[in-house]
Amino acid sequence: MRHTLRFLLGHDLVELGEVDPTQTVLEWLRRDAHRWGTKEGCAEGDCGACSVVVVRPEGGRLRADAVNSCIQFVGTLDGAQLLTVEDLKGPDGRLHRVQQAMVDHHGSQCGFCTPGFVMALYAMDRRGEAVTYETAVDEIAGNLCRCTGYGPIVEAALAMRGTEGAGEHLSGREAEVMARLEALDDGQDLMVGKDGRTFHAPASLDALAMLYAGNPGAALVAGSTDVGLWVTKQDRPLDPVIWLGRVKELRRIEERTDAVVIGAGVSYTDAMAKLGEMYPEGGELIRRLASVQIRNTGTIGGNVANGSPIGDSPPFLIAADARVVLRYRGERREVAVEDFFISYGEQDRRPGELVEAIVLPRPKPTEHLACYKISKRFDQDISAVCGGFRVRVEKGVVKDARLAFGGMAGTPKRAKAAEAALVGRPWSEDAARDAAAAMEGDFRPLTDQRASAAYRMKVAQNLLVKFWYETHGEGGQIRLVGPRRVVHG
Ligand SMILES: Cc1cc2nc3c(=O)[nH]c(=O)nc-3n(C[C@H](O)[C@H](O)[C@H](O)COP(=O)(O)OP(=O)(O)OC[C@H]3O[C@@H](n4cnc5c(N)ncnc54)[C@H](O)[C@@H]3O)c2cc1C
Ligand code: FES
Ligand code: FES
Repeated sequence: MRHTLRFLLGHDLVELGEVDPTQTVLEWLRRDAHRWGTKEGCAEGDCGACSVVVVRPEGGRLRADAVNSCIQFVGTLDGAQLLTVEDLKGPDGRLHRVQQAMVDHHGSQCGFCTPGFVMALYAMDRRGEAVTYETAVDEIAGNLCRCTGYGPIVEAALAMRGTEGAGEHLSGREAEVMARLEALDDGQDLMVGKDGRTFHAPASLDALAMLYAGNPGAALVAGSTDVGLWVTKQDRPLDPVIWLGRVKELRRIEERTDAVVIGAGVSYTDAMAKLGEMYPEGGELIRRLASVQIRNTGTIGGNVANGSPIGDSPPFLIAADARVVLRYRGERREVAVEDFFISYGEQDRRPGELVEAIVLPRPKPTEHLACYKISKRFDQDISAVCGGFRVRVEKGVVKDARLAFGGMAGTPKRAKAAEAALVGRPWSEDAARDAAAAMEGDFRPLTDQRASAAYRMKVAQNLLVKFWYETHGEGGQIRLVGPRRVVHG
């Protein structure tokens, strides 16, 4: 067991023996490290002003992800390199080429949002992929500029590759950083704390399962995109905190012949690519979920475990007949995702039992699957209604139907009356419209700030008819994961 948190801040080793388990990275940067470049806007992952870049070794190279420092606990930096806007300027005082492009294209007005944009764009630049209008806009969808400087910021993003500027002080030291981070990865369980409160980061699945079973009241943290807000918005005194980010077994995506098993620690970003290959609609759904910064840490495991009635992945997972693998000490069991949600706030998970993985069956050729997210904004918005539909059509007749919705009840739920109205009928517009009418018997949605009950019902019914329009043709016609102008333009 190690009792010191270790990470690199830029190129300086930081070792902390005393760590408040719920101190955020942003608080630590501003209060303890006196790096004031990183700003706080919303403190809930929505505005991107606090964006920093977290670098970790992965597959023999360094991976750099933009994350929201306002909702990440400082303990989650263990074994990583943290880069902030202060790290970008070269030792000779020259601006990094991302910063220089922002200057050249007038991408900063009041400047409050600027460090966050710069860090988001730096992470993009570091990946080395081609930058297009679509990818740039996607990359900064989690960054809010109150002065609406988006046009110049996008121009800077498009121009940054060709801009002169510093960068060698970072790129030239990657091999050294890699070696130092690998040396920090000692495989030991970590426990740090302050004033009697503790932060744990077990290094193996067995250690995690035993620790959580012995501390069922602990706050289990995966990507912290919900839990972070319990602290910053609700001031909840969490203790102990158990972070599962060091458990390599949970970050695996395992390919089986019949299914893909997504570990509970796999980020949305990583799951999106695999899901997009298998279920293009599922991949596109995840791209609609929050922002790059949130997707870089948030997990599908957390989206299921939190039991939210408006989580985006459960309707898709239920439609695809996915299962949750649960783990208590050494025992494993599996439940269908649809059975995991018992009622509002109640899931089929006993105290101390954790979600280990999601088992996602591979699609079959006779199936159509689609997902629809209805929200007020395209990006970075919670659904009013989210639908995941799968029908199996053989010789023109519906053999099986799974129609699942979020936002229509206290849990993500199937529309069983609507399904019954479809099965055995030709896959026709009449059948789709009859099933849509039958949905009145399935749900009594709520009116809240996102949508009225009547709107929710109407839109859910219309989505089913839209699904028929999109899938009834020869071979079906589905939307593809890709740049928004191509997909939605
Ligand atoms: C700005 C912003 C935008 C968002 N947009 C969306 C959106 O568009 N759609 C959407 O669906 N959600 C959205 N969310 C909510 C959130 O991102 C998701 O619910 C996310 O999937 C939670 O995953 P996480 O790994 O961050 O979970 P955490 O915050 O780490 O944990 C969430 C809950 O699950 C529990 N938990 C986590 N992992 C496990 C596990 N392995 N076993 C048992 N329990 C576990 C935790 O104890 C906690 O109760 C948004 C959040 C923010 C801050
Ligand atoms: S301060 Fe707004 S996302 Fe962190
Ligand atoms: S430049 Fe003012 S908020 Fe973005």
